[in-house]
Amino acid sequence: MNDDLRRLIRTIPDYPKPGVQFRDISTLLLDGTGFRMTIERLAAAVGPVPNLIAGIEARGFIFGAALAQVMGCGLVLLRKKNKLPGMVTGINYALEYGVDRIEMHSDAVSPGARVVLVDDLIATGGTALAGVELLRSAGAVVDIAAFVIDLPDLGGAGHLRAKGVDVKTLVG
Ligand code: PRP
Ligand code: ADE
Repeated sequence: MNDDLRRLIRTIPDYPKPGVQFRDISTLLLDGTGFRMTIERLAAAVGPVPNLIAGIEARGFIFGAALAQVMGCGLVLLRKKNKLPGMVTGINYALEYGVDRIEMHSDAVSPGARVVLVDDLIATGGTALAGVELLRSAGAVVDIAAFVIDLPDLGGAGHLRAKGVDVKTLVG
């Protein structure tokens, strides 16, 4: 299942540093049918329409924005540090290849809002866990997270499930 999408994702070895097998979704995006099928399958996996999709900068914006538009709900931006103009809340996290910080506008999410987290890929899960923690700290209900790609050897999906999040992925 989803082998058609898997074939459209390119793997580039040793980027951005030696030992990392980089899954490049830019080749999937170049294929209009593949991009459309990706969004349709993410929508089917997510199920009922949430109040908001949360997209994580940068690649999560591409899939999150398209998914929110198709599902007919809003999009909250989880941005890298110092990008948002208003008052923000933020959280630091570790990556497979470094450290980073995401922030969101403090008034973006109402307490009790049902928010589905979306990103292109889950590896260690550090980014997604930070996103879930940030959203939950604002009172959001985050029960589902959806990713195009899972890197199962890095265990991120399991870490997210341990936090009570139902993880949907298309390509493992
Ligand atoms: C990538 C990817 C995820 C994250 C996954 O983003 O888009 O957000 O890494 O890794 P993790 O599960 O180990 O946290 P990156 O930080 O490279 O940013 P980009 O989307 O701006 O390229
Ligand atoms: N983010 C974290 N690990 C990654 C990988 N192997 N490929 C693409 N994006 C990533």
